[in-house]
Amino acid sequence: MEQSLVILKPDTLQRGLAGQVLSRFENKGLKIVGMKLTRLTRELAEKHYSEHRAKEFFEDVVGYITSGPVILMVLEGPSAITVIRQMLGPTDGRKAPAGTIRGDFGIATRYNLVHASDSPEAALREIALFFRADELLCYDRDVNKWIWQV
Ligand SMILES: Nc1ncnc2c1ncn2[C@@H]1O[C@H](COP(=O)(O)OP(=O)(O)OP(=O)(O)O)[C@@H](O)[C@H]1O
Ligand SMILES: [Mg+2]
Repeated sequence: MEQSLVILKPDTLQRGLAGQVLSRFENKGLKIVGMKLTRLTRELAEKHYSEHRAKEFFEDVVGYITSGPVILMVLEGPSAITVIRQMLGPTDGRKAPAGTIRGDFGIATRYNLVHASDSPEAALREIALFFRADELLCYDRDVNKWIWQV
């Protein structure tokens, strides 16, 4: 089973959209195995976005991701990495199709609501950056037991 590191970025929390975004992941059938509310330090943000260090938007994106609280999550499911990236849509909300998170909630390139790992290598690196092994929980998500048992 695949795991992906997902960040609800500061605009999602500032706009009060965390619940709606999380609902989409839950409805899709992805399992939350790790979650924390935090504010990223500059050091962690620079590490997370290190692949973009030389780009002209690096300072802006580090400023954005450290500007307020974020929710860090590890989501698990079959092909979770690809599935979640498809649910996000392209980086630019103006180009993201309706039905995607960025397409439905955003209209900017920088303020695009959610980050998700884009490869298995990135997922391993990013999960290790934000979570200790004992912060990831292993459990069954048994819908029948919790919803159907009266
Ligand atoms: N041209 C740009 N101008 C301003 N901000 C940008 C630009 N390109 C990317 N960003 C910001 O930097 C982040 C990282 O860019 P990247 O190319 O990795 O996009 P992404 O993989 O779709 O997004 P993320 O890595 O956050 O999931 C983007 O999500 C966005 O917030
Ligand atoms: Mg990226």
